[in-house]
Amino acid sequence: SRVHLIAAARPNFMKVAPLYHALTAAGDFTPVLIHTGQHYDANMSDDIFRDLSLPAPDHHMGVGSGSHAEQTAGVMVAYEKIASEDRPDWLVVVGDVNSTAACALTGTKLHIPTVHLEAGLRSRDRAMPEELNRLMTDVLADVLWTPSPDADANLAAEGIPADRITRVGNIMMDSLELIRPRLDAVAAAAGMDLRPGHYGIVTLHRPSNVDTEAMLSPIVDALAEAAQRLPLVFPQHPRTAARLEAFGLKGRLERAGVRLVPPQSYLPFMSLMKDSAIVITDSGGLQEETTYLGIPCLTLRDNTERPITIDEGTNQLVKADGLVAALDAALSADRTTRSKPEFWDGETALRCVEDLRRRAGRGNEPA
Ligand code: UD1
Repeated sequence: SRVHLIAAARPNFMKVAPLYHALTAAGDFTPVLIHTGQHYDANMSDDIFRDLSLPAPDHHMGVGSGSHAEQTAGVMVAYEKIASEDRPDWLVVVGDVNSTAACALTGTKLHIPTVHLEAGLRSRDRAMPEELNRLMTDVLADVLWTPSPDADANLAAEGIPADRITRVGNIMMDSLELIRPRLDAVAAAAGMDLRPGHYGIVTLHRPSNVDTEAMLSPIVDALAEAAQRLPLVFPQHPRTAARLEAFGLKGRLERAGVRLVPPQSYLPFMSLMKDSAIVITDSGGLQEETTYLGIPCLTLRDNTERPITIDEGTNQLVKADGLVAALDAALSADRTTRSKPEFWDGETALRCVEDLRRRAGRGNEPA
């Protein structure tokens, strides 16, 4: 059967790739890769495709940037056309970006059986665009593939019937396992004159952190102070690079010795993370990857849709004014080996394929 896989923005590519490869290997499925073009820079897209051994997409919408409505609407119009001309047996949408919600709405209105991979996560913060995308996608999708028990509980509490939910685990760890044998050879830290185990990584891109000077300036001050404790390398998301420049904050980071570098592709970035002492971020995926690798993570957010990374993993939520104290504590703490959440094991894509088979055997419809 034909399976449409929607990929839009950087974190989606790591969720789609293992499923693409598992469907191809299964033999009885034909994965059709569809890129919405929400991310389009080479280092935000093409290079990551190459790192994950993904072929060029079968369809490319090229929607690009725009307001939320423009981006969402652009994807809806483009996907309606693609799905009408090349109707799949299944549509799989991943994560929580605008393209995910757009394709879920379009696909379900065309009565295409629709699956949400990474379902059930909730920050309970409706000021986040991603939370609205998650809510909308989960209420529409026929099948919900969840990464963790908290996600199952969230869906149950929202009244979603249990037979629509399958816990498959965290597919990002499949991608990590896919590239892991190649990581040592990449040696990204050495290439940047950083000593393995003796530097931190910073990434920021949430509008709530970077879009206003009032939020970004105290974060920059905290990072400048943190950089006196250990070298910090800061791959800059385009949104963040633009704001640091516009608010005149870039110099403050440079003077403190923070290494500002362009966004990294997946392979060099994971090589850098694997050898880091600590990660400071507002990303969702990094909270999970650090938990998996046992690296302390300080998350600059008021909430997280991934609480298992705190309960079972290495993550903690911090505010700008508490960042340096948390950094000091994390660096001097004994590196306790935290447990990996169940089904974060590199086998998630196989469970997804099995679940599709099982559901197809029942006639594609949730019982
Ligand atoms: C999007 C997702 C977010 C995800 C993030 C990962 C939504 C609502 N947001 O946010 O959930 O965590 O991707 O990166 O879907 N830009 C480039 N080159 C690119 C892509 C973007 O220069 O390849 C620029 C855009 O022009 C824009 C800015 O970066 O000015 C932000 O891009 P946008 O796609 O609006 O959202 P993200 O912040 O990347």
